[in-house]
Amino acid sequence: MSIRTTTEYVEDVSPGSGALPPRARYASSDAKSFSLNGGWRFRLSDTADAEDDSFAQEGYDAGGWADVSVPGHWVLQGHGSPVYTNHLYPFPVDPPRVPTENPTGDHLRVFDLPEDWPDEGGAVLRFDGVESCARVWLNGTDLGEFKGSRLPHEFAVSHLLKAAGNVLAVRVHQWSAGSYLEDQDQWWLPGIFRDVTLLHRPAGCALDFFVHASYDHVTKTGTLCVDSEVDGRVTVPELGVEAATGESVTVPVEPWTAETPGLYDGVLATAGERVPLRIGFRTVELSDGLIKVNGRAVLFKGVNRHEWHPVRGRALDLETMREDVLLMKRHNINAVRTSHYPPHPAFLDLCDELGLWVIDECDLETHGFTEQGWRDNPVDDDRWTPALLDRAARTVERDKNHPSIVIWSLGNEAGTGRGLTAMAEWIRGRDSSRLLHYEGDLTCRDTDVYARMYADHAEVERIGRGRDGGPHKRRELPFILCEYGHAMGNGPGGLADYQRIFESYDRLQGGFVWEWIDHGIEDERYGYAYGGDFGEELHDGNFVCDGLLFPDRRPSPGLVEYKKVIEPVAIEGDRTGGTVRVANKYDFADLSALVFTWTYEVNGEPVGAGTLSVPALSPGESAEVKLPEPPVAEAAGEAHWTVRALLAADTPWAPRGHVVAWGQFAVSPRQVPSVAATDGPVPGDGLITLGPASFDARTGALLTVGGVDVTGLRLDVWRAVTDNDDGAAWQTDVRHGLLWRRLGLHRMRHRLDAVEPGDDALTVRTRVAPAARDIGLSAEYRWTSDGNRLRLTVSVTPQGDWTVPLPRLGIRFALSAADQVRWYGGGPGEAYPDSRTASMIGRWQSTVDDLQTPYVRPQENGARADVRWAEIGGLRIEGDPEFFLTARRWTTEQLDAAAHRTDLSPSGAGVWVNLDHGQHGLGSQSCGPGPLPPYHLRAEPARFSFVFSEIG
Ligand code: GAL
Repeated sequence: MSIRTTTEYVEDVSPGSGALPPRARYASSDAKSFSLNGGWRFRLSDTADAEDDSFAQEGYDAGGWADVSVPGHWVLQGHGSPVYTNHLYPFPVDPPRVPTENPTGDHLRVFDLPEDWPDEGGAVLRFDGVESCARVWLNGTDLGEFKGSRLPHEFAVSHLLKAAGNVLAVRVHQWSAGSYLEDQDQWWLPGIFRDVTLLHRPAGCALDFFVHASYDHVTKTGTLCVDSEVDGRVTVPELGVEAATGESVTVPVEPWTAETPGLYDGVLATAGERVPLRIGFRTVELSDGLIKVNGRAVLFKGVNRHEWHPVRGRALDLETMREDVLLMKRHNINAVRTSHYPPHPAFLDLCDELGLWVIDECDLETHGFTEQGWRDNPVDDDRWTPALLDRAARTVERDKNHPSIVIWSLGNEAGTGRGLTAMAEWIRGRDSSRLLHYEGDLTCRDTDVYARMYADHAEVERIGRGRDGGPHKRRELPFILCEYGHAMGNGPGGLADYQRIFESYDRLQGGFVWEWIDHGIEDERYGYAYGGDFGEELHDGNFVCDGLLFPDRRPSPGLVEYKKVIEPVAIEGDRTGGTVRVANKYDFADLSALVFTWTYEVNGEPVGAGTLSVPALSPGESAEVKLPEPPVAEAAGEAHWTVRALLAADTPWAPRGHVVAWGQFAVSPRQVPSVAATDGPVPGDGLITLGPASFDARTGALLTVGGVDVTGLRLDVWRAVTDNDDGAAWQTDVRHGLLWRRLGLHRMRHRLDAVEPGDDALTVRTRVAPAARDIGLSAEYRWTSDGNRLRLTVSVTPQGDWTVPLPRLGIRFALSAADQVRWYGGGPGEAYPDSRTASMIGRWQSTVDDLQTPYVRPQENGARADVRWAEIGGLRIEGDPEFFLTARRWTTEQLDAAAHRTDLSPSGAGVWVNLDHGQHGLGSQSCGPGPLPPYHLRAEPARFSFVFSEIG
C-alpha cells in the first residue's frame, strides 16, 4: 500500500496531470453511462496533508465518516462555512502558495457496476465540476489531479474497473493555485458540485467532434460539416442529409436565432456509438463594425447569470436551470453571459432549445491582484499560461457544438497580459466561427467587441456616437455593456434611459444587467444569509445579493421593469388620433406569433375589450393601427386605452396568452378632487373639530377622521436607505445616502410654530430640520373640509442652502389597523421615478404584507406610484396630484435598522402609511451610476394635497 502525503500539486501552477484531453460534450448517446451522484462518505480535515491517502485503498473502513450529497458543497451541508468576498482573496496573496489552513474534504464512494455494463470496451470517469482542486483514486490507483473548478475532467479507468466493490476516492482541497484564477465575486464553495459519471466507451466510440453549421442568409441555405476525431456518418433525416464526417453538405434550412431557435435532430454514428446531435444553423460575424448573426445586427437584452440555488449553492438541478431559462424568456431577455465560468452543460442545451444568445465565459478571474497594482498577476506570467490555455481549451472543447454560443469570453476582471493573448490566439485557431470578448483590456487587443461595465448613460451615448476616442482598433468595434444596471437591493433605476440610448445608435448592441439572482443562502437565523453571516474575517456583506431574482427565484420589481423596458414590440398611442402605433423591435421574428388586444378603462375600470388586428410586421417595421370607437362616448372621468401583445399559441417557454408587451395611454384626463371649504374649525375642550376630523388643539395634530384614529401625521423626508442610495465605497461621485445621514435627514426634528384656527381652515405651521444644521423645511399644513371630507394641503419651503436632493417628500402617519389596501393608480408592483415603466394604471388591491418587497437586506421598498386614490384602514385618500403610496407594519426607522428580513416584525403600533409627493430616483450606484438628474428629488418649494374621508 502506497502512503502518500505529498500535496505539492495543490500549489503547482500547472492545471494537473492524468486527465484525458478535453473534448466535445454531448448530453446522451447509445453508450451506457452510470451516474455516481448521490450519497458519498465524507471526512473533513483542516489541512491538505492532515491525512494520508490510505482512505483511497480498497478495504478502508470509513464507518466513522459523515455523509455528503454529490453534487454538493460540503460547507452547505454542515461541514465548515461558506465565505463571501467580492474581489479580495480570502487568503494572503503569495501566488501560487495557499494557506496551511486548507479545508480538505475526502470523498469516498463504493460502487458496483450495473448488471448490464458491457464487458468489453473502455470506460471514462467524468467530473463536471469540483472546487478547487481534486486528486482522484480508483481502487487504490492514483489517477491524477486537476484544477479548473467549473470545467470537466475525464480519466480513463477501464483497466481498473471491476464488477463489484469499486472504491472511488476523491480528495478535494478548498484552496489551490487554481484559486488564484477563480477570484469571481461569489461565495467560495468547495466540493464536488457537479455530476460525477462513469461513461462506457465502446470500441469505435466517438471521441471529439465539432459540428460546423453555418447559414447563408442570401441563399437561405445551411452548410453542415461535422469534423470528428473518429470517422463516421452524419444523418439529419429532416433535411435529407447523409454525409461522411468531414464532408460538407449545403441544404435549404431555417436558421437558428435566439428568437427562432430552430434545431434539427441529427445523429453522428461512428462504428461503436450513435450520438444524437441538435443542430442549429447560424453564422456569426463581425461586419460593418457590428456583431451580425445571419446577416443582421443583433441587440442583446441580456443578463449575467451566476449559477445559484439558495440551499444547494452552485450545485444546480435540471429543474432550476430550466426555470432560469423560462424566466428569462418570459421576461423578454434574449441573451445571457455565463458570468464568470462555463455553466453546467445542461444549461446550454436549454439555451439552444429555447433560444438565448450566449456569451460563454471561461473560468478565469484574478481580480484580487488589483490590490497590488496587478503585480504578479497570473495572466501576465508565463508560468501560468499552460493553466490558462487548459481553461480556454476545456471551455471551448466542451461547449463548441452549441448554436446558442455566439461569443467566447476569456474571463472576467483579470487585468491584462500575455496569457490572455495566448488564450485568444488558441481560441481563434480552434474556432473562427465565433467572436471574442474580454472586458478587462481597454485596448481591445484580443477582442472583437468593445465591452465595458457600468459606464454611465452619457458615456455610453458618446460611445454610440463614436466620440469616445480610444485606440484605432477599438474605435472600429461594436460596443456592449457586459455589465450594467446593478440590481442590488431596490433598483436598478435608469434601465429605460439606457435602452433608449442602445436603440439610438447602431454601434451599441445592448447590454447585460448585473445580475440574474441574489446569492442569498437560506438560513433559519436570517431568512437569507449574506457575507459576514458565517463569521468570515473578511467579507463583502450583501454585495452578493444583487440580482433581478430573489434567492427563491421570485422576480424582483427590477426584473418586471427590465421586461417592460426591453419588450420586443413598442406600443404607443396618441391622445386624439384614435390610433396606436405598433413597432416590431425583434431582430429576426415577425409579429405573426402574437395577437393584440385592447381594453378601454374609465377611472381604472375596464368598460370594453376586444382584439386588434395588427399586420405581421417584419423586424424594424411599424404600423399605425386604428383603434375601435371608444365604448363610452363621453368618459365620465379619466380614460385609458391599454393594448397588449400576447402569445397567440403555446410556446415551449410560455403558454398562449402570455403578455409579451403592452402600452397604455390616456385619452381623457383625471379630474382632481375638489373640496369646497364650507366648514370651519370649531375649538372645543382640548380639541378642534373640522368636518369629520378632530385635532389636538395644542399641537394641531390630526387625531381622527370619522371613526378612524390617525396618529403621528407629519412631514416625512426619510427613507430606509437603499443599497443604491448608499453607493459603493469606491464611487467618486456623490453618494446621496451618506450625505443624507451626515446631514441628519434620518433624525429630523419638528418644531411647532403655530396652530391657527381660521374661518375656513385650520393652519398648522412647523419647521422640520436636523440637529446641528441650519438648513430646514418650513411645512405648513392647511386643513379644510366640506363637512364630509377633509382636505390637507401641505406647503413646503426649503430654508437655507440645500445642496442635496431629498430621499422622499410627503407625509406619514399611523393607522391602528389595516390589512386590505385598494388603490387606483400604478401597479401592481412597486415603482420609483427611474423605474416605473412597468407600472400600469389600474385598480389594484393587496394586503399590507404583500405590499412589501422582500429585499434580502431590508431597505426602502414597496412604493406604488401615480396613485389617484387609495383605501386603507377605513380611510379613503385622494391625491392632488397623484402620489406614491407605501404602507407597512413597521416604521421607516425600523426598516432602516434591519439587516435581515427576520429583524422586521409588526411593531404593534398598527400600520405606517407614507403618502409621498416625490421620491428620489434609484439609480444603480451600488456599482454603477446614481440616478440621472431628472430623477433627483430636489429640495424646492412644493405644494400637494390629500383628501381624506372615512369609508362608509
Ligand atoms: C463587476 C464584476 C462582477 C461583480 C460586479 C458587482 O465588477 O465583474 O463579478 O462583482 O462587478 O456586483
